[in-house]
Amino acid sequence: MLEIDIIAVVPGLLDGPFSHSILSRAAEKNLLKVRVIDLRDFGIGSYKQIDDYAFGGGAGMVLMAQPLADAIRHLQESGPYDEIIYLTPDGETLHQSMANHLSLKSRLLLICGHYKGIDERIRQQFVTKEISIGDYVLSGGELAAAVLVDAIGRLIPGVLNDETSALMDSFQDNLLAPPVYTRPAEWEGMPVPDVLLSGHQAKIDEWRYQQSIERTTARRPDLLHREEEVE
Ligand code: 6GU
Repeated sequence: MLEIDIIAVVPGLLDGPFSHSILSRAAEKNLLKVRVIDLRDFGIGSYKQIDDYAFGGGAGMVLMAQPLADAIRHLQESGPYDEIIYLTPDGETLHQSMANHLSLKSRLLLICGHYKGIDERIRQQFVTKEISIGDYVLSGGELAAAVLVDAIGRLIPGVLNDETSALMDSFQDNLLAPPVYTRPAEWEGMPVPDVLLSGHQAKIDEWRYQQSIERTTARRPDLLHREEEVE
């Protein structure tokens, strides 16, 4: 069982992603439990303030240290976290090997930033890992958290069945997946490659492997030199 708690500024953004398909199946099987915590519940004063102007000036608000610290400490009362992850564009770029690694943990806390980010002292005091989902800027960390939870959740043993096995995914061995086809064997004059209809499994496996190599060489040659990131 993997428990993932998410501290969010806009919790509504996370209403949809976890109630469908694979992740809801994981929840039903008690393999994954995702809980979304509204940072506003830990806001200060009658206005439930959670952000303030940046010292030194400039546009944009910063999430204050106190509400975040209160939320984190409250959640820690029900047990320690393996990692406290801050989702931020200046974090380490998410990679399949990170998802593999995190899927083996039992309790994770994700912190979603907003506006200009969170008070640096929260990063120093609590955060153990900082993750970005790519080199572009989102308006907040919630959608990045949804991406991370999806990438992790589907890897938890028992979540996927044989048909959807993660073992054959693109990136799992630093190769992109080969082309796939389903019925009919000929569609609009375009046939499925003969080898896939041959019933000869060794030849099929070899064809798929060659296609993976070709596709990776053409589209993502950088992956072929990433041996060190495979776990
Ligand atoms: Cl984790 N957060 C935000 N706000 N933008 C991002 C991101 C995260 N990863 C890529 N862009």
